[in-house]
Amino acid sequence: MKELIFATNNKHKLEEVRNLLLGKAHIVSLAEAGLEGEIPETADTLQGNALQKAQWVWERSGKDCFADDTGLEVDALGGAPGVYSARYAGEHCSFDDNIDKLLAALEGNTNRKAAFRTVICLIEEGKPKYFEGKVEGCILTERYGKGGFGYDPVFMPNRFAVSFAEMPLDVKNQISHRGLAVKKLVEYLTQR
Ligand code: IMP
Repeated sequence: MKELIFATNNKHKLEEVRNLLLGKAHIVSLAEAGLEGEIPETADTLQGNALQKAQWVWERSGKDCFADDTGLEVDALGGAPGVYSARYAGEHCSFDDNIDKLLAALEGNTNRKAAFRTVICLIEEGKPKYFEGKVEGCILTERYGKGGFGYDPVFMPNRFAVSFAEMPLDVKNQISHRGLAVKKLVEYLTQR
């Protein structure tokens, strides 16, 4: 089976993506690959960050690898926090800090439209290739559910009546931004 290093330090993402690629590719974590350190993420686009993270692994390992970068794009905030979603409430802020800031920014606003967008950069034999997934939905007025991570408790995808944090992981994976991007990666890896 093809081996791919996944350039993430987020254990939730690692679990999500491992489930999605089960039986299709063997996902090697950074720790298993013996790679340590802070992966830089300083580009101003999702594509740029995904490339930067994958390149960091490629340069150190010389092995096929991929990275993802995700942003929450909120309509009423002109697409913010977007590429800055992780640090929306400041450097070293928590998921809860980010949610508090988002709910405050949207307080009293009836336009709650938002989308998660993920870009995956796969580096194979040194060459980058991109895959994108997007899920549309809305920002709830308070937190619902304990599952997932990040903005999951306040994001409700269209055609569902629950937040991402209230869904079993396999349901979230089927419809999520990252799930859709990984599906495209899987199609690419298996149609050859
Ligand atoms: P990253 O740069 O891809 O790690 O994502 C940036 C930020 O977006 C994360 O720190 C989370 O706050 C948020 N995020 C990414 N994926 C998800 C998700 O599946 N659910 C909720 N929030 C997410």
